[in-house]
Amino acid sequence: MNPKLSVLAVASECYPLVKTGGLADVVGALPAALAAQGVAVTTLIPAYPAALAKAGKTKIAHKIPDLFGGKAVVRSAQLDGQPLLLLDAPHLFAREGGPYADATGRDWDDNWRRFAALSRVAADLASGALGPGFDLLHAHDWQAALAPLHLRAIDNAPPSLITIHNIAFQGQFGADIFPALGLPPGDWSVDGLEYYGGVGFLKGGMAAAHAITTVSPTYAREIRAAEFGMGLEGLVRARGPQVHGILNGIDPAVWNPASDPALPALYTAKSLSKRARNRTALARAFGLDSSPGPLFTVVSRLTWQKGMDVLADCVDALVAMGGRLAILGSGDAALEGAFVAASHRHPGRVAVRIGYDEPLSHLMQGGGDAILIPSRFEPCGLTQLYGLAYGCVPVVARTGGLADTIIDANAAALANGVATGIMISAVEREALIDGIGRAIALFADPPRWQAIQRAGMTSDFSWTQSAATYAALYRSLTETAR
Ligand code: ADP
Ligand code: GLC
Repeated sequence: MNPKLSVLAVASECYPLVKTGGLADVVGALPAALAAQGVAVTTLIPAYPAALAKAGKTKIAHKIPDLFGGKAVVRSAQLDGQPLLLLDAPHLFAREGGPYADATGRDWDDNWRRFAALSRVAADLASGALGPGFDLLHAHDWQAALAPLHLRAIDNAPPSLITIHNIAFQGQFGADIFPALGLPPGDWSVDGLEYYGGVGFLKGGMAAAHAITTVSPTYAREIRAAEFGMGLEGLVRARGPQVHGILNGIDPAVWNPASDPALPALYTAKSLSKRARNRTALARAFGLDSSPGPLFTVVSRLTWQKGMDVLADCVDALVAMGGRLAILGSGDAALEGAFVAASHRHPGRVAVRIGYDEPLSHLMQGGGDAILIPSRFEPCGLTQLYGLAYGCVPVVARTGGLADTIIDANAAALANGVATGIMISAVEREALIDGIGRAIALFADPPRWQAIQRAGMTSDFSWTQSAATYAALYRSLTETAR
């Protein structure tokens, strides 16, 4: 076995301590998957009050007298047997609200400072300026993206890798903040974080990191073009061979229908009939009538990215075709309102829960018949993987990680028993209605439907392969750096 590599992962979210989306699931699951590959990951996140409370007992590992205008300490803890560090800087993180916004949903004005501080501390930990140092730094998304820039300025610093979970979120700020970031003056350049006259955190991290990964091979290709690259396509192309697409997996300790505490009935691919109890519980939780047609679910941010505006236009057709729909999510006020209005038009057939509810999200996968994911772009997507694992058939758009993980139930795939979902080729009303109609028709043919469920449940959505790919990339970066 190769010698153990030590990696510092840095991110703004980590399940189960703090989560707003898939980033948290990935950051929470990767360390255990990498441990099996001989990589020891320590994860650094901000000590938001709720995260600190959930972390249990912590020890002060380092004291920082002045971090962007206040005192800070780095606390160490264990999370499911993996080492965790929490950056406890009350002037930056001790606030009511979410990780990025206050309780009304307004972004904190000083997000640049909060995450510049996280990145600075990550670089100091990785380089050995605080503590013993690490072999490699793995930054996730724009909130951690200044760390590779800091490391670039330090002699003999370890190599760095940045993962883009969603290139639409770039951390762009005015040029006036640059002096406060503590970066070398030379970073105010096209090779640094200057971006159209302002500061671009993600852009800077992508320019400085030794390698860039994103969360599916298709998305890695898509972001080379303007339609998906959101202004960074030129940089993605320039970094060509250093850009890798590595699919996310799912954490079997959290997402497994044979052991999920959120489900009234546990089941496997061999005991699908037990799902009926979960379906009844789900319908009851949402106040839906019973009916012979499929129960569709949505577990999503209610946003344009997720195609939720198109879905809102299809709800009446879905009901007219005999379907029911349960929605769990939050996001744009107009979309929330559109779904609430649809639930009023179709009592007993359409119901909406606005908000965030982790156990309910599990019941929706374990009791729903099909999950709708008509995303306009989707770097990887996790809800279709949870759908596969739970026999909740994914109905998805052909984009990003959705295209890489779902096999459309076309005639050939059905004949060969390999279909795992339904894919629509355009995020438009007619195409989505067609996809919903195909699901309803297949559902009416139980042997076919169950074959799709079983093919999904027995397909490989584990982290094993992807963790091995990350580990190989880490090793190649550390070997080149030596
Ligand atoms: P994204 O990160 O773009 O939002 P993903 O599919 O990668 O999309 O991950 C979304 C994660 O957030 C999944 O774990 C999903 O179950 C969860 N999720 C989304 N909305 C909700 C909600 N309203 N309540 C509970 N979990 C949610
Ligand atoms: C982002 C993407 C999503 C991906 C997740 C985890 O939130 O929008 O597609 O699954 O990150 O990588």
